[in-house]
Amino acid sequence: MSAVTPSSISVKQARGVERLVTGQATSDGAGVKLTRVLTSNLQHRLDPFLMLDHFGSDKPDDYIAGFPDHPHRGFETVTFMLDGRMRHRDSAGNEGLLGPGGVQWMTAGRGVIHSEIPEQQEGVMAGFQLWLNLPGSAKMREPWYRDFTADQIPRFEHAGVKVCVIAGASHGVTGAVQRDTTEPLYLGLEFAPGARFEQPLAADHNGFVYVYDGELRVGNDAGALTVPKNRMAILANTPGSDGVVISAGAAAARALLIAGRPLRQPIVQYGPFVMNTKEQIYQAVEDFRNGKLA
Ligand code: FE2
Repeated sequence: MSAVTPSSISVKQARGVERLVTGQATSDGAGVKLTRVLTSNLQHRLDPFLMLDHFGSDKPDDYIAGFPDHPHRGFETVTFMLDGRMRHRDSAGNEGLLGPGGVQWMTAGRGVIHSEIPEQQEGVMAGFQLWLNLPGSAKMREPWYRDFTADQIPRFEHAGVKVCVIAGASHGVTGAVQRDTTEPLYLGLEFAPGARFEQPLAADHNGFVYVYDGELRVGNDAGALTVPKNRMAILANTPGSDGVVISAGAAAARALLIAGRPLRQPIVQYGPFVMNTKEQIYQAVEDFRNGKLA
């Protein structure tokens, strides 16, 4: 815990839940089993977010092969580990070991080739990878990368909720990463039974709550909707709303709250490349084939 005193806030008009989404079981990399929570058909609705994967297994066969060398261009990847250890190596010479509670923020920009390989033979491997889009003007910027250990992520406890502030700010606590254009908010939330959490959010920012342990209610007291485990609640962009209210019932629960300012630009994705036009995608593929991506 960092020594901060969280400020009190009060959300007057809470956003409701537009709909609940169930993730899709899939596999990626060299056969890593995972649940794709934010799928490509939601990229416009949840702009600037492109993808959210939830991986979690205690069966080594589900994760052991990891994600061998692969490229990225045009966006950022944010990996948040809950359990287990994953080693990252990339074409810029960066290397890091991600452990429980740690976060890796990687801005691919013009291009990165990297590998993400579990550094364990047994036990639980669990966490999330979020893809955050870059504005067109920044898609070809220089790559950037940073690992944060669990104790380097600003965190606080308020009214029975433990909050880790990966990006943005909450209750006066500034998170580990800030971004100008997309203004991402990325909070890890752990609720004690009966706890309640409020977070201001601009009404036009797209956001969602993903419950991965227990269940939570999202919305104001009268209109709150129960969000079961492993469901994503897309927050309605209700005009005049000023934030989100999340409450635990009789049991503890854990969730992610993620929101950001939409870019409202064309999204053209081809696998690990996300650009604004088809021509830029052809260029990315060509650069990769010619060894010029990274
Ligand atoms: Fe990757």
